[in-house]
Amino acid sequence: KALGFNMVTCSAPVNIAVIKYWGKRDEELILPINSSLSVTLHQDQLRTTTTVACSRSFEEDRIWLNGREEDITLPRLQSCLREVRRLARKRHSDGDPAGLSHKFHICSVNNFPTAAGLASSAAGYACLVYSLARVLGVEGELSVVARQGSGSACRSMYGGFVQWTMGQREDGKDSIAQQVAPETNWPELRVLVLVVSAERKLVGSTSGMQTSVETSSLLKHRAECVVPGRMEQMIRAVKKRDFATFAELTMKDSNQFHATCLDTYPPVFYLNDVSRRIINLVHRYNRHCGETRVAYSFDAGPNAVIFTLQEHTAEFFQVGGTFFPPETNGEQFLKGLPITGVTLS
Ligand code: PMV
Repeated sequence: KALGFNMVTCSAPVNIAVIKYWGKRDEELILPINSSLSVTLHQDQLRTTTTVACSRSFEEDRIWLNGREEDITLPRLQSCLREVRRLARKRHSDGDPAGLSHKFHICSVNNFPTAAGLASSAAGYACLVYSLARVLGVEGELSVVARQGSGSACRSMYGGFVQWTMGQREDGKDSIAQQVAPETNWPELRVLVLVVSAERKLVGSTSGMQTSVETSSLLKHRAECVVPGRMEQMIRAVKKRDFATFAELTMKDSNQFHATCLDTYPPVFYLNDVSRRIINLVHRYNRHCGETRVAYSFDAGPNAVIFTLQEHTAEFFQVGGTFFPPETNGEQFLKGLPITGVTLS
């Protein structure tokens, strides 16, 4: 403040959906065609850190992402800036011009590959909205604002297990994220991210889901007939810490999401051969154990997210090392895992 500007730094983690969001009913407000549920990662490996400085002496809003200046006129960025400023005006209705005459300089850094299907936009927009709100002294329901940056970002506003309710209203005010259970509800749960490829994905989630909504009848069936029941079952499984049910629903939902990508015309491919080998490994391992000990989930990219319990983590890694021996693709499985043992607690 002494320097003539307010500044805050915040950090937000990615979240991994176990019931996937895919498809919008309103592109501008980012309203989904189905509810979704995710796990917010808790540790340092997959995070965005954002610093926002706010001053009357800045001439314009500006943003830097991973050290490079980016286009501030991006509609989704503009939505977030506009909405936070609107909330600030409402809060400071006594005439404080916060958010009106001030301009922002925003600096955001990911400590992991951007746009590689590792939920970078979720952490990024959640962090942006929270930082903007803090610097302007805005409180309250911010997931509706983060949602307008990137749908999945609304779920990163909370820790633990988070549902994004699709809502019914046209203005999107009921399309919000809420915590279903804190991470302390299930301290044994482990999330491992297997980085198969850190390259930028070829088809972004925005265009991918747009084509799916236009062409996939499976997506319509999924949204209307499958997801509502799955949400209820998943919430029950999380609350009861029923790993077998949680795992089965997670894998089925990931598979159905990728099936809708195949049902899209032209089809969208996010999984590759290594992803499919990981899927096979998980099923063979579970069959061998006689119970479901491990689950996988894939977003809009080939990288696998593995869910398991603490007691099985070491053994699963050992098995994975044999399944992907170093001289074949073990590089991918073992050495290519900069992010391992990402825990929830
Ligand atoms: O929020 P977006 O536009 O990055 O879309 C996310 C879509 C998935 O990651 C594939 C699923 C999800 O629910 O996070």
